Amino acid sequence: MSKEESKKLFIQTLGCQMNDTDSQHIIAELEKYKDYKTTDNMEDADLIIINTCSVREKPVQKLFSEIGQFNAKKKDGAKIGVCGCTASHLGKDIIKRAPYVDFVVGARNISKIKDIIDVKGAVEISIENDDSTYEFARSETSMYKTSVNISIGCDKECTYCIVPATRGDEISIPPEMIVQQIQKDVDKGAVEVMLLGQNVNSYGRRFSDKRAKTTFTKLLQEISKIEGLRRIRFTSPHPLHMDDEFIEEFSSNPKISKCIHMPLQSGSTSILKAMKRGYTKEWFLNRAEKIRRLVPNVRITTDIIVGFPGETQEDFEDTMDVIEKVKFDQIFNFKYSPRPNTAALALKDQEIDDEIAGARLIKVIDLHKEHLVEHMNSHIGKTVEILVENLKSDGEVCGFTDNWCQVFVKGSDELLGKFVKVKINDASRTALKGEVISE
Ligand code: SAH
Ligand code: SF4
Ligand code: F3S
Repeated sequence: MSKEESKKLFIQTLGCQMNDTDSQHIIAELEKYKDYKTTDNMEDADLIIINTCSVREKPVQKLFSEIGQFNAKKKDGAKIGVCGCTASHLGKDIIKRAPYVDFVVGARNISKIKDIIDVKGAVEISIENDDSTYEFARSETSMYKTSVNISIGCDKECTYCIVPATRGDEISIPPEMIVQQIQKDVDKGAVEVMLLGQNVNSYGRRFSDKRAKTTFTKLLQEISKIEGLRRIRFTSPHPLHMDDEFIEEFSSNPKISKCIHMPLQSGSTSILKAMKRGYTKEWFLNRAEKIRRLVPNVRITTDIIVGFPGETQEDFEDTMDVIEKVKFDQIFNFKYSPRPNTAALALKDQEIDDEIAGARLIKVIDLHKEHLVEHMNSHIGKTVEILVENLKSDGEVCGFTDNWCQVFVKGSDELLGKFVKVKINDASRTALKGEVISE
């Protein structure tokens, strides 16, 4: 088939960065083996894939409304596939509810995508380990950055979370495979890597073969040896595994980006216990304080759930207290959403009134806004270094600092891929503005 005759793939991605990477893998596999090319126009596509998230109820509802619309507007004969976490948890029920769906592929099965697209009615949702899960063709969206999975699945049992049920047991990918992959990407021009896993800092406890255990800290040290690699980012780490060794590596290794995600979830020790998070309010504060002390320019981001079953006003005040003390640089906040296959469903009789949860969410957002203004304004007048990544309209480019602040500057495509020093002269809640002072 000539290039002109390539089939067209439209892919929509919901959810987290693991899903983004999975979508990149799907694209690369279908380009390589099935001669698909991506399109932004769903109505022109021969294959429509929606890569789903099921962490809260909303994205699941979105899935069904969207595939209905896709089906109504799609080209004659075009196929529709549902992949990702909702595929894993609803399986064949998706086809029952939406019979026009051609196939369903779970989050842990997407390495089979190239064969499944041709099997009408296929449902592949096993969460058993299969090493091919992490062997894919690769396609990257940026020349300067790459993302690499370091583990798949999750061994935690956070009582609100569906992820262990959709992505299965945690298996670490062998360090030499990770290092090799990053080296290949660096050889092609990448200077920054994002290490991905549901729980990156419990890395090294279980491999699919019988090799000895290792740690995330050791993995970071190995990856840092790659010449030409300038920045290492990772997400998500778990506060429970932020031991001293890890914090010291984080603070002293110049290649590690000084932005860390510390998903708090709740500031109340009793709610943390009901969530089975494994740490207390004091432990979290102690870790955050140590990180802020050792890494003066660190940015700390977090996830917070309000309205977990049984959350009293006092519990909520504990969450507000931690926010006040840590002054997070970014908060992803959520209202508790009951999920199938989770232990918290047993607490149904203690669920919080939606209005109360909504009011708590607004309080979190408001307090955070105060901190955000403070943090962002504190950059004004200072000089930062950014990696220029994107060309914006009207003569602007944008990039990110080492501690992951977005910065806009005047400039052209000549700056793309360069590290430049920028003097900051303006700040909003989400980004900084400045001018390049040296390349
Ligand atoms: N493995 C990662 C991310 C998991 S999902 C981690 O542990 O940090 C991303 C976030 O979604 C979680 O941190 C949590 O804040 C939120 N989340 C997960 N399940 C949820 C639920 N049932 N209701 C509301 N928010 C939820
Ligand atoms: Fe879910 Fe907890 Fe695992 Fe994160 S660590 S994916 S919140 S079970
Ligand atoms: Fe969503 Fe699955 Fe990621 S549930 S958050 S897409 S792991």
